[in-house]
Amino acid sequence: MGRRRKAHIVEEVSIVDVVEKGKAVGKTADGKVYFVDGGVPGDVVDVLVTKKKKSYYVGRAIHFREYSKDRVEAFCTHFGACGGCKWQHIAYEAQLRHKQSIVENALVRIGKVAPETIYPILGAPETTFYRNKLEFSASNKRWLSKEELSDESISNGQDVLGFHAPGTYDKVVDVEKCFLQAEPSNTIRNKVRALLKAKELPFYDIKAKEGFLRNFMVRLTSIGELMLVFSFGKKDDALIKDFLEEIRTTFPEVTSLHYCINTKMNDTILDLDIITYHGKGYVEEKLGDIRYKIGPKSFFQTNSSQGKNLYDVVVDFAALNGTENVYDLYTGTGSIALYLANHCRQVVGIEEIADAIKDANFNASMNGIDNAVFYAGDVKDVLGEGFRQKHGKPDLVITDPPRAGMHPKAIELLLALEAPRIVYVSCKPSTQARDIELLSDKYKVTKVQPVDMFPHTFHIENVALLELK
Ligand SMILES: C[S@@+](CC[C@H](N)C(=O)[O-])C[C@H]1O[C@@H](n2cnc3c(N)ncnc32)[C@H](O)[C@@H]1O
Repeated sequence: MGRRRKAHIVEEVSIVDVVEKGKAVGKTADGKVYFVDGGVPGDVVDVLVTKKKKSYYVGRAIHFREYSKDRVEAFCTHFGACGGCKWQHIAYEAQLRHKQSIVENALVRIGKVAPETIYPILGAPETTFYRNKLEFSASNKRWLSKEELSDESISNGQDVLGFHAPGTYDKVVDVEKCFLQAEPSNTIRNKVRALLKAKELPFYDIKAKEGFLRNFMVRLTSIGELMLVFSFGKKDDALIKDFLEEIRTTFPEVTSLHYCINTKMNDTILDLDIITYHGKGYVEEKLGDIRYKIGPKSFFQTNSSQGKNLYDVVVDFAALNGTENVYDLYTGTGSIALYLANHCRQVVGIEEIADAIKDANFNASMNGIDNAVFYAGDVKDVLGEGFRQKHGKPDLVITDPPRAGMHPKAIELLLALEAPRIVYVSCKPSTQARDIELLSDKYKVTKVQPVDMFPHTFHIENVALLELK
């Protein structure tokens, strides 16, 4: 029998900061650095070290010697188990402070820039029930807490519906009430669970890839439209019809009901055929004066009220006078492009998902906008010299890439365009800062506005205005 290793516990670690992925940073008197799960800046803790790296340690807080004044009681019973709102134990004002410093540090350390003006982060007006979209997973394996794991009378072989526990792909936290999405989201999820049980439909076995319901998505817009998209693990037309009919009659407020069959290894539905079972096939959302069609596969800002505030920052930084030619890179369903269209001469959007471009064109005509054109394709392939000749040199480029940021080739093409101004919208400050550094030969950063789209999480949106030197 191998000998048990002695636990490596470090005493009196002062938590001094948090970093982009939400991990707390601690230091000991001898200057060693610890990334600590469960810490809040201001805490003094003892840390159980789980990993040792060259220049730092990783671990979790197992004993609190002092509590930070920024600590608050988490309001959700699933806090800790569910990966959703990891910062619920930090006062909202302090969350904002930390997000602000994460943005500033990224710009200085990674971007190597000192922006002329960094505005204080725009806090969200609603800090609960702010998401318009949530996805739930069904599983026949319930995630168990540490206490439950040591109780032999509790098995994880339970049928559950909720969110994947962080770090596990096959175990799901059974969610009773989630504070992220307004009603009827909780009622629908709980009813779906009850329905599956009443009809004895097997909850999905993620390892064996078997079962009836796999996941489903709820999208609820601020004008009261409601979309449900169910993803089934097996094509069984009779069972699916019976189930969807029950959902349709129980929730007459659903305006667009969809399903797909997913027998793949992964959960994404973007590459699957989505069938409309009932309703118009999409929902509409309204930001400012613009109405948007959102299909089952479309990307759309998940916090509508803060999404509008974000777009208002873009309008403000864009400072358009009506004569400009604007490019909107990574345009999705044309959301920013259409929001700006009435402020400029022409706007040209690029997006790689062809369905989103169809929605963008639909959105333009639905809003009576005739100065917006959209192209389906990868920015790094589309944005060449031919594109510039066809659409004219841009006076302003909006870029809003996914978390990974822009491809180096897309950055090169952007540099070659030499647009006088770029408004860079980002959901990941570190990749934005990396791209800003790549652009810094020709551009300086003049204004920065962080926006909190996701209260109680460590996610940050940031808008930067870059001007040609
Ligand atoms: C953060 S979203 C921004 C969408 C839009 N600006 C908005 O506010 O709703 C990023 C978008 O970029 C698209 N995308 C990702 N990689 C791309 C690429 N290489 N070329 C073009 N579009 C891409 C995604 O499909 C997604 O719609």
